[in-house]
Amino acid sequence: MTAALKLVLLMLCWCLSGAVQLSEQELAGKRLYREGVSSSDAQLLARVGPGDMSVPASVLPCAGCHGNDGRGRSEGGVRPPSLDWQRLALGPGNREANNRRYPAYTDASLARVIRSGTDPAGNRLDPAMPRFDLSLADQRNLTAYLKRLGEDRDPGVEEGTLRLGTLLPEQGPLAEAGRTVRAVLEDGVAQLNQQGGIHGRRLQLVALDPGQDPVSTAQALDTLMQRERVFALVAPLAPLLDSRQLERAGLPLIGATPRSGGNGQVFDPLPGVPGQLLSVALHARDALGLAPAALRVVYAGAEQADAAQVLQQRLRQLGFATAPPLAFMGQAPDGEGILFLGHAQAFTALASSLQASGRNPYLFAASGQVAGAVPGLPPSWSRRVLLAYPFVPGDWTAQGRATLAGVQLRQGLEPRQASLQVSTLCAWQLLVEALKQIGRDASREQLLVALEQLHDIDTGLTPLLGFGPGRRQGMTGAHVVEVSLPGPGFTEVAPYRAVPDSL
Ligand code: HEC
Repeated sequence: MTAALKLVLLMLCWCLSGAVQLSEQELAGKRLYREGVSSSDAQLLARVGPGDMSVPASVLPCAGCHGNDGRGRSEGGVRPPSLDWQRLALGPGNREANNRRYPAYTDASLARVIRSGTDPAGNRLDPAMPRFDLSLADQRNLTAYLKRLGEDRDPGVEEGTLRLGTLLPEQGPLAEAGRTVRAVLEDGVAQLNQQGGIHGRRLQLVALDPGQDPVSTAQALDTLMQRERVFALVAPLAPLLDSRQLERAGLPLIGATPRSGGNGQVFDPLPGVPGQLLSVALHARDALGLAPAALRVVYAGAEQADAAQVLQQRLRQLGFATAPPLAFMGQAPDGEGILFLGHAQAFTALASSLQASGRNPYLFAASGQVAGAVPGLPPSWSRRVLLAYPFVPGDWTAQGRATLAGVQLRQGLEPRQASLQVSTLCAWQLLVEALKQIGRDASREQLLVALEQLHDIDTGLTPLLGFGPGRRQGMTGAHVVEVSLPGPGFTEVAPYRAVPDSL
């Protein structure tokens, strides 16, 4: 095989795998580095402090001080230096750390510094660096891994940049929304970079067009992961995104749950349609006095069937004896209150069918789905239509308003499209908050943990947002707003409250 061909094959392998491929020896070294465990059954010991006290190395793994990324730490007095192999061994000339000057490390002098704490110039290291008694095999594994450590980072995390990705349509019905989301995200990136980025890294955003079908969406996501090597996905507008593809690749998503459903890696700042409709159902029972059996779940479009099932299940958990969801095909469903899932056109059709059969039940829906149909409804529906809103302008604090107005001004965005701007800002703010918390040693695994630990985040534009173990929706309910017609006029009749899992 020619050298050029080998190189091409090597690069191909490297591109196809999410992170670098480590040999078995390097993987064993990685476990020693991160967890302080030997590849044999023997327990590894570290000697610490001036008195050489022995403790298990698993209590003091290298990564605990030098970081998973080996970049060292800047806190404290004597600092664990960067273990980048380039710095330790490859470059010419002397090195310097903590006032020690010494020539390049070799495999042998590296083994010595780890065992006895003297550097290649014979300087004694500060006793803050423990001494480790390693077998020859363990030392070889560790050295092999240290040589690869600099490359062993999650995709998108580079020395001076952190790369994020998103999928935004440039054509078709979602193109305008795509431009809005892009403007809000790019504004966020620019603002943060102006302040110096996050932990010394500038943020970079790669936006690709997912196209109009599942295949083009999957391809665009693949390009983001394999070629662009993005760290996480933020606020994509890609209804056909397959969440299993995200899961396989271990790619975190902060934004709206894809239609294919959520999973452990999808953190959605806002409640889904079922969660929002639960708030309206509780209002219907508590304030309108509707009998729990008088509610009917009706959905339009096969893509809503799953959400309708989820809604019915949650209603049952909350003590509503609702009949199974009904697919709307132009009929006039029974029930005194109809919880509707589907799009604006179907909502209009539902109202017409009911009216044609002389019926005027309450219609409950999510504003995000049906708001477009409301101005065209006949006045007979006045105060019979109640909509769920995850946030209303009443949630906006002075600071939230200023943030939103700033983005609108800088990006030339229309204040009347605030809803999408706010939901994008929420995803952005949660992601940035989590990135700040994980520090410089950024990995996807830590990002997921940090997101899970976000609680009561005040966006200034929504009720408090937060996640938790197994909790992937930032909010669990909605405000309930009554529509009066003609107009339309909107009156909040129930404030936001989190919907409990059961009553
Ligand atoms: C308790 C914290 C701690 C742990 C655990 C630790 N180190 Fe260190 N390490 C340090 C500190 C602090 C220094 C700097 C000492 C000095 O400069 O005098 C250091 C220095 C070093 C150096 C010298 C670098 C240079 O430029 O001279 C190497 C190599 C090193 N550590 C490797 C390791 C490895 C490998 C492990 C795990 C087997 C490990 N360290 C575990 C704190 C730690």
